[in-house]
Amino acid sequence: MLAQRHAAVMLWLAVAAAPAGAADAGASPGEYLFRAAGCAGCHTDAENQGAPLAGGRALHSPFGTFYASNITPDPDTGIGNWSETDFVRALREGISPQGKHYYPAFPYTSYTRLTDADLSAIWTYLRSLKPVRQANRPHELPWYLRSRATLRIWKTMFFNPDPYQPHADQSPAWNRGAYLVNAVTHCGECHTPRNMLGGFRQSQHLAGNPDGVDDAKVPNITPDRGTGIGKWTENDLVYYLETGATPDGDYAGDAMADVIDNSTSYLTQDDRRAIAVYIKALPAVEHAIRKEKKKKTEPDEYQ
Ligand code: HEC
Ligand code: HEC
Repeated sequence: MLAQRHAAVMLWLAVAAAPAGAADAGASPGEYLFRAAGCAGCHTDAENQGAPLAGGRALHSPFGTFYASNITPDPDTGIGNWSETDFVRALREGISPQGKHYYPAFPYTSYTRLTDADLSAIWTYLRSLKPVRQANRPHELPWYLRSRATLRIWKTMFFNPDPYQPHADQSPAWNRGAYLVNAVTHCGECHTPRNMLGGFRQSQHLAGNPDGVDDAKVPNITPDRGTGIGKWTENDLVYYLETGATPDGDYAGDAMADVIDNSTSYLTQDDRRAIAVYIKALPAVEHAIRKEKKKKTEPDEYQ
């Protein structure tokens, strides 16, 4: 595990040394978005050497354990029989081709903000991948969450499907950042606290989540100086999203290391800058998330 983390740090350094954007030179628009959106992170059971996008990765949450589905083009166990309309409906509305509601462990609550063009590009990319035959694993949930019928009620309370609408009074960089943060890279899925029913607390947008996925405490990233990242400059944030290095000489750990490794380090420098512009302009929310202090000299902390 430690070796893995070191390898990740080396990767970051290699990426940092490359000219901006070079890491992703050959990517199609669909592949670029697919990476930025972190689809592979959940849909590949990397820990158990699972085949890419064949599903099976366990996602532990306060509501139970979810297993992401097979999204390769296999017709029997994946989404090989789907039409593009089916795909758009799944990500925009959180509804399966059979009309079943998805659990919000699948962050369609963010992907609903993707534009039609971007959804189409991701679909085209997914179709180009190798089909893998692997049956989906059922989720492990308490009895009261097993019925998908209750999800319909949850959605009327906490979900409003709608692609991102640009704000005319904001700069293009801010709008691009808002789109990347809220639709594509879905920072809020981890950084925004949830209420007892798993809905976002909108008044605390990105203000940190004490009960994040895999029991991680997720810090406040609003510009509050005491409890958020108000002391970080825009450059600090751009550099962190590229390399994982924090302004005080530490490195990102836990789920954030994966986000940087698999998503934000592949973004163009302009896109990372746009994210930083948007985050720096957020309203500062005071919300203290107690964080176990990591020390670089204690390898255990990285496991
Ligand atoms: C945070 C983890 C996570 C991320 C990131 C994620 N998914 Fe999923 N996805 C899930 C889970 C969990 C399910 C199963 C939901 C359910 O059973 O209700 C799912 C289900 C799906 C389904 C439905 C499959 C089926 O057979 O019905 C599709 C399609 C899908 N995801 C595509 C994507 C794409 C495309 C991306 C990237 C844009 C993505 N997912 C990113 C966790 C994730
Ligand atoms: C899968 C969950 C997840 C997602 C998605 C995510 N983060 Fe994080 N983030 C974390 C966790 C967990 C930490 C704490 C990491 C640590 O302890 O080193 C963190 C730490 C951070 C920090 C460091 C804050 C500090 O005080 O040290 C910043 C900045 C940050 N994230 C920004 C973002 C941005 C911007 C996005 C969207 C591009 C994002 N995160 C998406 C889970 C996530």
